[in-house]
Amino acid sequence: LLNSYSGLAACAAGFAVDNNILIVAGSLVGASGIILTRIMCVAMNRTLAHVLFGGFGTADSTGVGGGRDYGPVRSGGAEEAAMLLESAESVAFVPGYGLAVAQAQHAVRELGDILEERGVNVSYAIHPVAGRMPGHMNVLLAEANVPYPQLKEMEDVNPEFNRCDVALVIGANDVTTPIARTDPASPIYGMPILDVDHAKSIVVIKRSMGRGYAGIDNSLYTDPKTGMLFSDAKAGLENLIAAVKEL
Ligand code: TAP
Repeated sequence: LLNSYSGLAACAAGFAVDNNILIVAGSLVGASGIILTRIMCVAMNRTLAHVLFGGFGTADSTGVGGGRDYGPVRSGGAEEAAMLLESAESVAFVPGYGLAVAQAQHAVRELGDILEERGVNVSYAIHPVAGRMPGHMNVLLAEANVPYPQLKEMEDVNPEFNRCDVALVIGANDVTTPIARTDPASPIYGMPILDVDHAKSIVVIKRSMGRGYAGIDNSLYTDPKTGMLFSDAKAGLENLIAAVKEL
């Protein structure tokens, strides 16, 4: 939205100084920014007013579906997770904001390559608003040269989670929250999510039980199928790589 405003400002400046190039370039930036803003709002299932003023990440958003106790959490180590990954036929990596913060894109690619060499079918599940920018995950994974056919958009990967042996969630939170499908009182109700909870086993790498952008707890973490690997994303992936290599 701010990008598009900069384009509109440039366009207005073009009129003021009578410069056609500035007018055309400014209107292109302004229009494309507005189109992108709309696409992102649709991906979050929110109106623009909701995105700007809806109280995401504030105390209000921890109301119903927010600070709820979903039960005990099962946590484990890298060795346990490595055995699970190594014995799987298919693994889906689910990157999120934490992967970007930790700059763990190269580590995830390395783990993907090692698993592929051992006959595991690896894919990367991309949510349109994972991270903090449109296309954030695509850019990061492209930087690490992740093979393009392994990247799967949400609509394509969701029907496949039922058949997925292990979903490895790396620093993603809101985009995997099952109550977005079921709890009308949740601040993210209606936001399409990655159906990670449909996978046979789930491993989550994050540092703590900390919340994501929406400020709500994630019932995925207390799912009996889920094992938490509490770590910084990059360090956790490096430990996993070392553990898989030792198997
Ligand atoms: P989030 O829900 O924000 O969760 C990120 C998680 O990463 C946190 O729970 C945090 O938990 C963990 N984390 C942070 N640093 C880490 C590190 N160094 N290593 C490992 N984990 C780390 O992220 P998401 O699932 O990608 O969802 C994105 C959210 O941002 C959505 O709510 C979306 O609507 C919103 N949003 C997106 C955009 C666009 S365009 N992409 C723009 C604005 C807002 P710990 O602290 O426990 O580690």
